Amino acid sequence: RNTFVVLDHKTGMVIAIRQGSPLVAGHSKKGIFLASDTLPLLKNVDHIVYVDDDQLVEVRGTDLSIYSAKSGKKLKVKKHKLSQKIEKIDRDGFPHFMIKEIFEQQHTVLEAASYSEGEFTDLIKKIKKSKKVYTIGAGTAAFAAGQIARFLRNVGIDAQELRSYESENYLPLISKKDLVIAVSQSGETADTLEVIEVLKNKEVEIASIVNMIGSTLTRSSDYPFFSRSGPEICVASTKAYTSQIVWGYVLSKTIDGKFNEAQKVIAKLSKDLKKYFADKKHQTVLKKLAKKLVKQDHVFVLGKNQHFYTALEGALKIKEITYKHFEGFSAGELKHGVIALIEKGTPVIGVVGGTKQEQNDVLSSLIEVKARKAKVIGIADKTNEFFDIHLYSPDGGELDAVAKVVPFQLLSYYLAIELKNDPDKPRNLAKSVTVK
Ligand code: G6P
Repeated sequence: RNTFVVLDHKTGMVIAIRQGSPLVAGHSKKGIFLASDTLPLLKNVDHIVYVDDDQLVEVRGTDLSIYSAKSGKKLKVKKHKLSQKIEKIDRDGFPHFMIKEIFEQQHTVLEAASYSEGEFTDLIKKIKKSKKVYTIGAGTAAFAAGQIARFLRNVGIDAQELRSYESENYLPLISKKDLVIAVSQSGETADTLEVIEVLKNKEVEIASIVNMIGSTLTRSSDYPFFSRSGPEICVASTKAYTSQIVWGYVLSKTIDGKFNEAQKVIAKLSKDLKKYFADKKHQTVLKKLAKKLVKQDHVFVLGKNQHFYTALEGALKIKEITYKHFEGFSAGELKHGVIALIEKGTPVIGVVGGTKQEQNDVLSSLIEVKARKAKVIGIADKTNEFFDIHLYSPDGGELDAVAKVVPFQLLSYYLAIELKNDPDKPRNLAKSVTVK
């Protein structure tokens, strides 16, 4: 599974052949560009040509031809005009794309919800007649898939989240009576695409929530949806993650006949995020904490139910760009091993949100670690006597998973800055993981 690009030095002709890994061609007056996805081409091209597997691209000067690699037959070249919105990529005055993308969430949560009720009709029909719904993704998208499955279960749908790289065991159980919802920012993640290919061969229908228009995953989907958060340049995903969650929430509420109620929750969340970002004191607290954490080697993050995934995603964000060992756990796991790691001064972050019961579960775990002299950091809308440090985050209601992940995103950014890392381009990681 590879994609090759070959340059003939004598003639200047370029030949590319796609087999498994993604390939797109961009077209403009400046010439023809080849890349694995549209993102790096956005500044230089105005039209995109999507290349499928087993297709061969021939570039002679400004002429582009596509052939079937199997039959040798010349194929029609379909050019797709890039939308105005996606063309504009700059930092908008922010020092890095990451911080710009974090702040953008006050708007992108609304964009992700900007589907009409009718646009969900076909997908909902399919969900209702499916035996089981599986949601699947990799990395951050796997955690969003977890949140989406949880929303679906909340409205009575038998839904199960899978991680692309740990789904082999489930594949024999998935049939065309089921539906698979694939979650991905890029729509090009090899681990996810490989699973989708196997399922499509079994005639399983695929829905997807993807951020990049024209991606391989979108083109393989029977029910393609976009998270509409605009280009996400920073390798670590922030706004795409929260948009995927919002989309899953609107979908589940629409199944439940509560589309309008969902819109109100999202409008409030957007307003609360706006207020949160405008109030510099929250950022001051996070910057101060980042300075303290520079010297720490291990930090534990505890959450429960929707915030189990917040804990995993929060810890992943920090690992990705600070290279520090943050580990997310379910609060319930504390007594089953994690507590053995707690020493005097060990920082433990608790995500306190959701139902009263969920909050109490996390609080009682925090009390346990505090008794062992851990440094307790609480992410919550209200402070608590057990917190050594309180990181405020608004109450996001049913979308608290969005509200509570934001302090982690900001903390990871400020910590990366303290450590003099480039938050946009973390070491060893790629935005689109197109090979396994
Ligand atoms: C890589 C990135 C992660 C991302 C994952 C899935 O591992 O480093 O940040 O979450 O790919 O990417 P996707 O494009 O499928 O959302």
